[in-house]
Parts: sequence; C-alpha cells; structure tokens
Amino acid sequence: MVSAMVTRHRTTAALALALGLALVAPMGADAARPADPTPGASGVGDPFFPHGGNGGYDVASYQLDLSYQPDTKTLAGKERISATATQTLSSFNLDLRGMDVGAVWVNHQPARFSRDGTDGQELTVTPRKSLKKNQRFTVSLSYAGTPEVVTDADGSKEGWVPTADGALAVGEPQGSPAWFAVNDTPADKAIYDVSMTVPEGLTAVGNGSLVSQRTRKGETTFRWRTRNPMASYLATITLGRFEVTRSRTPDGLPVYVAVDPALVAASAPVVAKIPDMVAFFEEQFGPYPFEIVGAIVDDAPEVGYALETQTKPVFDRAPDEATMAHELAHQWFGDSVTLSTWPDIWLNEGFATYAEWLWEQHSGGATTADQFAALYKTPATDEIWNPAPNALAASEQLFSTPVYNRGAMTLEALRVKIGDKNFSRLLRSWYADNRNGNVTTADFTALAAKVSGQDLGAFFTVWLTTPAKPATW
Ligand code: ARG
Ligand code: ZN
Repeated sequence: MVSAMVTRHRTTAALALALGLALVAPMGADAARPADPTPGASGVGDPFFPHGGNGGYDVASYQLDLSYQPDTKTLAGKERISATATQTLSSFNLDLRGMDVGAVWVNHQPARFSRDGTDGQELTVTPRKSLKKNQRFTVSLSYAGTPEVVTDADGSKEGWVPTADGALAVGEPQGSPAWFAVNDTPADKAIYDVSMTVPEGLTAVGNGSLVSQRTRKGETTFRWRTRNPMASYLATITLGRFEVTRSRTPDGLPVYVAVDPALVAASAPVVAKIPDMVAFFEEQFGPYPFEIVGAIVDDAPEVGYALETQTKPVFDRAPDEATMAHELAHQWFGDSVTLSTWPDIWLNEGFATYAEWLWEQHSGGATTADQFAALYKTPATDEIWNPAPNALAASEQLFSTPVYNRGAMTLEALRVKIGDKNFSRLLRSWYADNRNGNVTTADFTALAAKVSGQDLGAFFTVWLTTPAKPATW
C-alpha cells in the first residue's frame, strides 16, 4: 500500500523520469509504446537488507489461511496477495524463507516459480502473461513446512519461535518471511487478514480485531483482521495456551489481552496500566492510531526482547512498566509512523525510549531532564556514544544502546533547544502528518526546523551522526 508520503516521493521521481524521457525520446508512435516487461528487483535497496522487499509492485492486502501443529512444528498455509504492478513485469519476487511451495497462481492462472534466489529468502514468480504497469493482480500460493527461527547479525532470534505450548511470531527486522510470503520492506504497508487453525484449547492471537473464532472437530480457527495498513515486521500470529481478557478503556477502545497462564499474576499490575498509558500518550502525541489495543504475554524468555506488533505488542515474559510503556508508545512511533529503511531505526527506538521517560515523569519518577543528566554522565568512551544513532555501520547495530538511549537523549536535547511548546507541537505534527505512513530522518529534521523556525543542521549532526559524545549543540 502506498502511503501519502511515499506517493509524494514516487510522484516526484516519476515526474523527473517523465521529463528526462521527454528530452531524449524521439517524437512519434514509438514514444507511446509500453516498456518491454522486465523482472522486478529482488530487493528494494535497503542498506542493511539488500534482499528484503522486492521491486515492481505494491501490496494492498495479505489474506492468510494457516494451520499449525505444535507437536510436529508444521505450518500449512494458503495465501492470497492483492497488489498493483508499479512497472511492466515479466516476473517478480516475494520474500519467503524455507517452506515447500506447492503451487502459485497469478490472477487465478498457474504460474511458474523458483526458489534459487539470493540469501535464501526469494520466491520468484513468473506469470503466464506479463503484468502491465498499474495493473492490479492477485498472487495465490499454497505452502507447508517447519518455519524457521531466523538468527540476526546481533545473534537475536526472530521469525517463528516454537514455545512449550505453541509458537511466538516476531518479525523485526527480517523474520516475517519465515511464516508467509511477503514484500518484506517496512515501506510497503498493507491490510492483513489472517486465520490460524490450532488444536482445540490453544489460542492464536493476531493483529487487529478478532473477526471470528470457531471450534470444529478438535480444532479452533481464529481469524484476525487489521483495519489500518501495517508494515510486515509488525505482523504476528502468536499461539499457545493463553488466558484471554477482553475489556474496554474508559474511552471505549477495545482491549484484548492474552497472557500465558503461568504469567497471569506477574503481568496483572502492568497490564492494568494499559488504559492509563494509552490516555497519557494520546495527550502527548494525539489519538491512539488503531481500532484496538492489548498485549500478548508469552513465556519465551530466550527471545530476550519484546516487540511492538501492531495493536498488540508481544512480550517474551511478564513485562515491567517501562517496557509496556515503550511498546505502547511504538504504536504511534514505529507502527503508525514507520521508518522507510532500517538505518533510520532511531525514529522508532529513540522515540519509544523517550516515551518511557515521559511515562516515568508522569508517574512521579525521574524527569526527562534527570534521565538525560544521568546518561550524560557516562564517559566519552562508553558504548552509548558510538555508533551515532543515525550513522549505524551494519544491521547488528540496529538495536544497540545508542539507538535507544542516545536517540532519546537527542529528543530531550531538542526539547531544551526549541522549547516545550515547539517540542510538543513537533511531536504532535510528526504523528498527525505521517499517520499510517512512512518517514525518513530528513523528514523529521525538516519538520523540526519548520516548527521551531531554527536552523538545526549543526544540532542534528552533533546528535545523530557524529560518533562521539556531544559537547556543544
Ligand atoms: N523493537 C523492539 C523493541 O522495541 C526490539 C526488537 C529487537 N529485534 C531483534 N531481532 N533483536 O525493543
Ligand atoms: Zn522499541
């Protein structure tokens, strides 16, 4: 799905291209002939994940019909993707890791496919008839197998992580292709409609609202649907034994919380704060982005982190209050306002960490100024100062200390620099202007300059891209 932001960028590029062509193309009948169909690219050029995402099309929706057997760890899937070609396509790729693909159809016609792409995550599909630019098309496929645990460059696990009673599905930054075929770039948001069939007694929890739940012959099918477009790394369909609580916030927002039975008591005090946290962040940033909120608390501490899966963050253990605040704040910054490429990860993590500080200040604890002062005391040789949060060398630095802590410090320094009123206007406009969209660091620094009327070039160079402890700014 093309967001407003992305549309604007693409439109500019298309215009430049059209002007360029107009200068060189000979006039006459030839000029109007459509381009020869070519293969879509096998990546979208992300500096950290060259094979993540694919060129030549834009997905509107994913419809998944899945079933999972925890005892054999096997997943069977039927998938249907609705997309639009953005170029004339002789073939195109999807990202899929492992799994045996049974058949692929394009526009209901059998299509050829191969798996011999780079980096083990490419499914190349060649339709019978090439696709025209701007043509809408559907891809259907069936697949089965044991989904992969994906190990990232920093050693962390993601993808499809089996648990004692089911599996945890987390996909940041590159795990989603473990369980479905996807255009795995955060820049192509889409609607998700996911049904998952599991043995009776287990619960499968996905993004958005529960559309139906039906038990038949010892199996239960849960169907989940997102109302808002979602980046692929935020998709989940975590399953296992869960105690489910459904309620509403005082404002009427539905709350769906699923907790591993062993963690109910330990999670209760923090889960109970979800409505207050949502209300507080609404005051700070603007209306909650989605139609439902909640949490999935699973028992999988070997994962080692929580993830802001859209509408219902996933926790690998009973969450503490700061982590709950962090993952809920991501619903605004990360999920609704989403990075376009991975090196801009501080736009997610710096903001969510700053939101933790705001929540703690609101709760009567340390102020954001206290947090900044405490971190600023760390010596210049400390790992918090290097790399700079927006000058990461490689994907293994995506979730490093500077991204979180120095990223949040950047926002606190900015608040002091431009004043409370401008800072509040900036956070609110950043969200309001980019809801459901994709952004870049340059978009943020431009908005900061506009809102404050200040030249912030040197400030952002010192804070975001200089790999040394800031001294003056
Ligand atoms: N975004 C998550 C958070 O807010 C962290 C995800 C880490 N992912 C990973 N593969 N290590 O903390
Ligand atoms: Zn985070």
